[in-house]
Amino acid sequence: MKLTTITSYKGGVSKSTTAIHLATFLSIHGSVLLVDCDKNRTAIAWSERGNLPFKVLAEKAAYKVLSDYDFAIIDTPANPDSNDLKELADASDLLILPTLPDVVSLDPMLQTAENLKGTNYRALISIVPPKPNTDGLKLKAELKAADFPVFEAMIRRSIGFSKAALAGKPVRDLTGGDRLAWQDYEKLGSEVLEALGHE
Ligand SMILES: Nc1ncnc2c1ncn2[C@@H]1O[C@H](COP(=O)(O)OP(=O)(O)OP(=O)(O)O)[C@@H](O)[C@H]1O
Ligand SMILES: [Mg+2]
Repeated sequence: MKLTTITSYKGGVSKSTTAIHLATFLSIHGSVLLVDCDKNRTAIAWSERGNLPFKVLAEKAAYKVLSDYDFAIIDTPANPDSNDLKELADASDLLILPTLPDVVSLDPMLQTAENLKGTNYRALISIVPPKPNTDGLKLKAELKAADFPVFEAMIRRSIGFSKAALAGKPVRDLTGGDRLAWQDYEKLGSEVLEALGHE
């Protein structure tokens, strides 16, 4: 079983949306359990509104069955303190840190680097505005310049994600323009498989 944890200091940076879509991608490659550790139950509610191609369980219900799956994804609430973050990273095969492409995101991100030394972690730039805006690319370049590991894939801002949440589906299963952002999670998914050392 390969364990991926999605976390952040800040709320509303697309942790749950990323957990749902990464789980959708990985379900093409093996069995997937999404563990919803947020008391708000965002992922569980999403799954109950419709149909997702993987299992979603609350934290305690997941303990016993975690090892039965090829992949487990943990969606966490925002704001772990630094100690929690290191513990989460140590316990995971991969830690994903979604972040918005704004100037105030860079410094807090760089401060976590020291704390996460020796663990497998990457930043994910998400909810990226369309061209000609270059905030996403700028943040990626700045993270790279600071040697902070960051996924090449960035997740575009799309209204499809809230429609998908309402419909209880991943954006992959929507139609027309609402489906386009699925390409971003496909790119991310390939990088995640590589980061997990999956054949
Ligand atoms: N790529 C995107 N484009 C547009 N809206 C998005 C995108 N990703 C997420 N959202 C929207 O942003 C809001 C926050 O997303 P989400 O719930 O996934 O974040 P979160 O980090 O899990 O939040 P919390 O910290 O409250 O758990 C939601 O309304 C969601 O639909
Ligand atoms: Mg959430």
